[in-house]
Amino acid sequence: MKELSKVAGEVRASTTLAVDALAKQMQADGIDVIGFGTGEPDFDTPENIKDAGIKAITEGKTKYTPAAGLVNLRKAIATRMKLDLNLDYDFTQITIASGAKHSVYMAFVALLNPGDEVILPAPYWLSYSEMINLAGGSPIIIKAGEEQNFKITPDQLESAMTEKTKAVILNNPSNPTGMLYTRSELEVIAEICKKYDIYIIADEIYCGLVYDDKEFVSIASLSNDAYDRTILINGVSKSYAMTGWRIGYAAANPKISKVMANCLSHSTGAPGTMNQIAAIEALSGPQDGIEAMRKVFEVRRNYIVKRMNEIPDVSCIVPDGAFYVMMNLSKLIGKTLGGKLIENDDDFAVTFLEKGRVAVVPCSGFGAPGFVRWTYAASMENIREGLNRLETFLQA
Ligand SMILES: Cc1ncc(COP(=O)(O)O)c(C=O)c1O
Repeated sequence: MKELSKVAGEVRASTTLAVDALAKQMQADGIDVIGFGTGEPDFDTPENIKDAGIKAITEGKTKYTPAAGLVNLRKAIATRMKLDLNLDYDFTQITIASGAKHSVYMAFVALLNPGDEVILPAPYWLSYSEMINLAGGSPIIIKAGEEQNFKITPDQLESAMTEKTKAVILNNPSNPTGMLYTRSELEVIAEICKKYDIYIIADEIYCGLVYDDKEFVSIASLSNDAYDRTILINGVSKSYAMTGWRIGYAAANPKISKVMANCLSHSTGAPGTMNQIAAIEALSGPQDGIEAMRKVFEVRRNYIVKRMNEIPDVSCIVPDGAFYVMMNLSKLIGKTLGGKLIENDDDFAVTFLEKGRVAVVPCSGFGAPGFVRWTYAASMENIREGLNRLETFLQA
């Protein structure tokens, strides 16, 4: 048979999901494994949101919606963006997609011509690089190590610019690092993007999960210019514990949103109607649930960071937001653990899973070799036990 698409054939499987799949298989086989792999809140979707989805079904709201999403959902998003971020978007500037992941992909589809370059700060969420490739672009990776708090510097950004640079992706707060750019750092980044006339894809899906009373600033809010060149991505998955409902959105200038809406109309044609209706309730209903969850995450973050830094040979810096922590295991490279020589973070993750019965995500795939990512979107009991197991595993 003829060859498949070269571009599609080169897409790597998600390492996050691969570790999770192995962990789930072990659990299914009756092995007691604790998972810190996938980034999804362990909380259930709040009742008022679930009820809105159920009511939509019983009332027969089961037909197609406009391809860019229900007008009332797009209006609810515009209102929330005004309230939370002081950003003014008309509902026509907002497109709904099947999760923020899909919104990011549609942003690349809307922007990229073959060979266009997208600057991708590492550590990065693995899906970005694959989506850029799928949309015909080339990811240009700039590395921001732990010594620079996993944040890119203005010099690094400028050095990566070429004639072909079309956009930069800024995930703030970041998966996998949890780090947050400050207002002044964002101002410099926005100025550089203006100077080189490139788009900003701002993935702000974790904007509701910021700790220590730090200020979250949306880069689109900094100036009219930043607003015009930003495609702002967000969704309900993380803040409202709605990962399975698959509702994400993008807000952009009218020209970009129109192109995204057209592309959506010929690909997915909007997520499930009842899911969109549930998302309206999430965004317009009581918001106190978000703050309650944020507070719980902050307590867990404080605990995991403190304990991790008390364990010999591993360490982490304090993440500002999201629900991830990057464990530095460079001191373990070359050691034998669980009977296996640890040559890299992949070896560590597999051995820790098989022998320590804890699933974490190796970060080589995120452009950060020598680290594994733990999520603290897990119960306190599991976090405590996971760290106990780490101690035991390292002593064995
Ligand atoms: C940075 C980032 N963006 C987007 C997403 C995807 O969110 P959604 O579930 O809305 O597709 C994730 C999920 O892990 C993420 O970490």
